Amino acid sequence: MRLGILYGGNAAEREVSLTTGQAVYDAIQFEYEAELVLLDGDILSIIDELKSYDLVFIALHGGEGENGKIQHILDDHQILYTGSGAKASQLAMDKSATKKIANLKGIPTSDWVEVTIETAESQTEIDLPFPFPVVVKPNDEGSTFGLTIVNSATDLQPALRLASEFSSKILIEAFIPGRELTVGILNNTPLPVVEIIPSHGLFDYECKYTKGLSEYVCPAELDNQLTSEIQANALDIYRAMGCRHYARIDFRLDPDNHFYLLEINTLPGFTGTSLLPKSAAKVGLSYRQLVNQIITLAKEDHDPLL
Ligand SMILES: Nc1ncnc2c1ncn2[C@@H]1O[C@H](COP(=O)(O)OP(=O)(O)O)[C@@H](O)[C@H]1O
Ligand SMILES: [Mg+2]
Repeated sequence: MRLGILYGGNAAEREVSLTTGQAVYDAIQFEYEAELVLLDGDILSIIDELKSYDLVFIALHGGEGENGKIQHILDDHQILYTGSGAKASQLAMDKSATKKIANLKGIPTSDWVEVTIETAESQTEIDLPFPFPVVVKPNDEGSTFGLTIVNSATDLQPALRLASEFSSKILIEAFIPGRELTVGILNNTPLPVVEIIPSHGLFDYECKYTKGLSEYVCPAELDNQLTSEIQANALDIYRAMGCRHYARIDFRLDPDNHFYLLEINTLPGFTGTSLLPKSAAKVGLSYRQLVNQIITLAKEDHDPLL
């Protein structure tokens, strides 16, 4: 089988994608006829090359690689690829849409309001249905870009302006104190819950990608019932959004042990030391086996007789 590993891209997470692509290549280079395909600019300029592979492993993160645009173009050209399809990817990149679906399914989220910078700037005071502190974030970014924890109404405007540099839709969310959890899903099965203990107050870009700046506990120290409940909710949102193959779902857990869905990542960090691979290792799946399983799932999806 000829496998193209699509990596790079122009999203903020380009560097992470370069590491992911190389890690995937190193893991399976002797099993498949694999090649790294660098995305530098318009996907259409490499579409013929992508067509020459039996399957494309999407090793992109963020931007058009994760928001469904590239998946849509690959669908149009009948190119098979790993990970969620165009619709699920687009939906998952939209944090507000994700929360609405979650609430319909009975999955708890923090309270939030959605504003545009225009409405925010035309009002002297924004009426919030929940107290400070709040979290201001762009509706469709990743890696904690453009996100601010705001403690009082006077600090709201600069935070909104910052978020508006990343997206025209801005979310103001109730701040959930407590712990940070994430759950990987592989082939409709939840992996062990991971607790993230960032050294900054917030799981920001530096803590996400600098070795040693966060501590990870897997499986997270939670009682069995709470663990099962969080895993079940992670699987529920994964299914409700129509995700495929794998994804990773972020939660907050407050001091009363109530959990709240933050978002679903359809192309989560995927280097050898990333959270989903770490969690898969706890159930005995090596990185190479994990990559292989995703490739097999993607092939089977399109070729059910295999
Ligand atoms: N409502 C919230 N309450 C507390 N912390 C939050 C909240 N929303 C986001 N955070 C913090 O910011 C980080 C990034 O937020 P998230 O919604 O997952 O966006 P991103 O797509 O940037 O990862 C989270 O991992 C968490 O540490
Ligand atoms: Mg997140």
